[in-house]
Amino acid sequence: MRAAATTILSGGLAVEIAEGGPGDAGPVAEFMLGLSLDSRHDRFFSIPSTEALHAEVRSELTTPGNLSLIARTPEGRIVGHGLAAPLAGGGAELAFAIADDVQHHGLGTTLLNGLVSAMRARGVRRFEATMLSENLPMRAVFAGAGFTLVAGSGSIEAVLELAD
Ligand SMILES: CC(C)(COP(=O)(O)OP(=O)(O)OC[C@H]1O[C@@H](n2cnc3c(N)ncnc32)[C@H](O)[C@@H]1OP(=O)(O)O)[C@@H](O)C(=O)NCCC(=O)NCCS
Repeated sequence: MRAAATTILSGGLAVEIAEGGPGDAGPVAEFMLGLSLDSRHDRFFSIPSTEALHAEVRSELTTPGNLSLIARTPEGRIVGHGLAAPLAGGGAELAFAIADDVQHHGLGTTLLNGLVSAMRARGVRRFEATMLSENLPMRAVFAGAGFTLVAGSGSIEAVLELAD
């Protein structure tokens, strides 16, 4: 999924979704820093310093095997990022961040579908994610996509096993 694909979100906002690369690390980090504190906390389970956030995002976008999908408005503003990171034992871990003013319009679901589809084409069959227990929108997105949700202490694990 190298070329940008245009998706119309509920509410009529058009976004272009394309695979991100190392050159996108700075802009994606700035996008993350523009999220509300609540959203940043939900994404990172803490509020990382600016330097730590830049380092984390750079790692996400440069680690071989990782897949980033970036959603931009037609004007080029980044409004969403989805990450699939291969796990040591097989499978891939997923994480998402959507701009606060674009949440609840289907972009999280769209990026989830895009990541699962692209990683499936690479042979990945198991998908996992961890979210804070109180993160109801993320739980709803995973549950709606057929993931099994397992409660931990303060967090929830979402797991999907695809048939071959
Ligand atoms: C969690 C997050 C990624 C969700 O993204 P989003 O774009 O708002 O998600 P969507 O619009 O696709 O889905 C959310 C809504 O659609 C509903 N939905 C999604 N897929 C659905 C499905 N298949 N069936 C039914 N409902 C569904 C959800 O119930 C939810 O409803 P709401 O709008 O009433 O809350 C976003 O809120 C976010 O970035 N939060 C901060 C960072 C974060 O929490 N990251 C997660 C770390 S893993």
